[in-house]
Amino acid sequence: MLDDVREGLMRRPRELSPKYFYDERGSRLFEEITQLPEYYLTRAEREILVARASQIVELTGARTLVELGAGSAAKTRILLAAMHERSEHVTYVPIDVSEEFLDQTRDALQRELPWLDVEPVVADMSDAIDVPPGVDTPVLFAFLGSTIGNFDAPSAIALLRRIAGHMRPADHLLLGTDLRKDPRILDAAYNDAAGVTAEFNRNILRVLNTELGADFNPDAFAHRAFYNEAEHRIEMHLDAVGMQTIHIPCLPTITLADGEGIRTELSYKYDRAAVDALAVAASLAVSQWFVDAESRFALSILEPIP
Ligand code: AVJ
Repeated sequence: MLDDVREGLMRRPRELSPKYFYDERGSRLFEEITQLPEYYLTRAEREILVARASQIVELTGARTLVELGAGSAAKTRILLAAMHERSEHVTYVPIDVSEEFLDQTRDALQRELPWLDVEPVVADMSDAIDVPPGVDTPVLFAFLGSTIGNFDAPSAIALLRRIAGHMRPADHLLLGTDLRKDPRILDAAYNDAAGVTAEFNRNILRVLNTELGADFNPDAFAHRAFYNEAEHRIEMHLDAVGMQTIHIPCLPTITLADGEGIRTELSYKYDRAAVDALAVAASLAVSQWFVDAESRFALSILEPIP
């Protein structure tokens, strides 16, 4: 983490990886975001899942669900229930960085769904994706919530390739992607009236304070989020309010001029062609494309190209 933070903060523009948002407080704030009136993504994706879960299970024949970045237990349940309609024995492999989170998820799911076999795997999304050997096939991999939007095209392709490398011919990938739309709607989703996204953004500085002993004053940074139309992405930044001098043990002192920003997140928005292009570059093909009633969000089923 120290190397990664050093590298990012020395770069211009200065940047931090959005994976550092998610300590316990950050995860709680993100949960709050998903319930905001402006943040339509989670609701739109759930709408598609509710409408299409049986069809997805029918089309893929899935017996095992392997979920990357398993932050979305509520959405996962919809899929697991649909899988149980078709087969008595269902396996769920949640993959996440937080062992504590995975333990909680496993306990809760096993209590609620006694027919479910939960086999959590602790891993970073950039690590190898280790599917436990001997799980029932076919496997449905799921990467939901438009988390892929945090990755620029080369990194997204690399990640999809890594997933594709674990897929057998009969396996599928269910991919959630937020769609391009009126920039005012996108803008509002990342600049909510209640200021929860701003707190979520500033939380990354608290994580650096806790984890690295840094001395950021989070209140001296302004949340700035906007839609970059040319790049089809939301950008989130934290802009210094007044000059900021930051000490991080083992790193040279960092000085930010008044107004100087740190970029904390990219959130790419897609259309069908963009998802097709990512898929093809990873030797995958989009076989189904499902959107919500307002075409705000897409769930696609991808399969390996032989
Ligand atoms: C979890 C990466 C999909 O990009 O919309 C929400 C994170 N950032 N509000 C997104 C986020 C600001 C979210 N993802």
